[in-house]
Amino acid sequence: MADNASLGAAKTAKNDEFYTQYSDIEAEMNAYVEYDPNVFRGKTILLPCDDPEWSNFTKYFAANFERFGLKKLISTSYAKGAGNQQLTLFEMESPLYDEALHETRGKLFTLTRDKDGSGSIDTDDIEFSGYLEGDGDFRSSEVTKLRDEADIIITNPPFSLFREFLAWILDAGKQFVILGNKNAITYKEVFPFIKDNEVWLGATHHSGGMDFFVPDEYNESANIKIDVDGRRYINIPGPRWFTNIDNGWRHEEMTLDTMAHNLKFNKKLRKKLENEQGAIEYPRYDNYAAIDVPITECIPSDYDGVMGVPVTFVDKYNPEQFDIIGCPDYTGKYGSDELGIKRIGEAWIEKYRSAGGKGHYTANMTSLVYFNARGEACNTFKRILIRPKKGGNAT
Ligand SMILES: C[S@@+](CC[C@H](N)C(=O)[O-])C[C@H]1O[C@@H](n2cnc3c(N)ncnc32)[C@H](O)[C@@H]1O
Repeated sequence: MADNASLGAAKTAKNDEFYTQYSDIEAEMNAYVEYDPNVFRGKTILLPCDDPEWSNFTKYFAANFERFGLKKLISTSYAKGAGNQQLTLFEMESPLYDEALHETRGKLFTLTRDKDGSGSIDTDDIEFSGYLEGDGDFRSSEVTKLRDEADIIITNPPFSLFREFLAWILDAGKQFVILGNKNAITYKEVFPFIKDNEVWLGATHHSGGMDFFVPDEYNESANIKIDVDGRRYINIPGPRWFTNIDNGWRHEEMTLDTMAHNLKFNKKLRKKLENEQGAIEYPRYDNYAAIDVPITECIPSDYDGVMGVPVTFVDKYNPEQFDIIGCPDYTGKYGSDELGIKRIGEAWIEKYRSAGGKGHYTANMTSLVYFNARGEACNTFKRILIRPKKGGNAT
């Protein structure tokens, strides 16, 4: 349901025009600065989907330019963005302003110096550096050149282009902090980097939705809320920060209990197992040598084998505590074929159908399934496979 809801909400915010709140950016960036106060020092930051007129990313980094010791802030806007029809003050007051180019070209804004001589470098010093040759598409050669100049790329990119956007950053080996949807964790273009600890989740927003501002003319959704200042916003479920910059959160160990303890005392687990497994024991898959752990907090501290866990495990993933093994959701690197997950098979399908199962399963699929203690055919929701680091994960 959450997946449908998030897709629906993202679609509703048409053309990916929804804007991140200052407080959400601040909370996330604080985590990196707390972990390493010099994380941004001397760095050039590119914000490639951001017009300073409405982007809080630009406002946030401009306001913190001196505190972070930034070398340069580059912000580019996309001509097809809904807010782009608005004239920015930075642009309008610049001698480079050109009415004819305003709507069709991407725009380039930079911040490097105390332009207005106020004694500090801040938002007022953002300079309109001119129009781009094209519309400001991040894939264009001119924005790619800016990517190459930058040390760190930070933004909320269009969710619909998330795969391409991440690849565009990783191709250049840059550091980044970007927003995406939690569904992206199991994309075959994303998961292998998470497994290899080259990409991980950010420090904030590990559950629930996030409110994003939408353009003023936007009023066609029942989902819309209007704040006291008349600004419109929508709630999009399941956003996550994706990054390759270290933060303290990912080194925190999950506190876990033994298998016997969970089976005896965890009411949520007991209820789930009673209903689905038909016995108070962790199910073992029929087509792969692993147990199913239906609730992340119930990962047993004394089990050393492979476990299938909900994807939201990644929200608590500490690479010093666990190894991620793979993802049954796709074929390819670290996918079901490489893992050697067997076909579901006819026996499971027959039992599943005869019990009225309506899911889109065929015998050739490799989703993780099991027969429960009552001999019934059971499926699992999205899982990833993990194993405790050698020596166990006992806490
Ligand atoms: C989800 S919005 C976020 C805007 C801003 N980064 C923020 O968080 O407030 C994504 C932005 O990417 C822009 N965009 C869409 N396609 C793009 C592309 N191919 N290249 C660059 N920007 C694009 C949209 O115009 C939109 O403003």
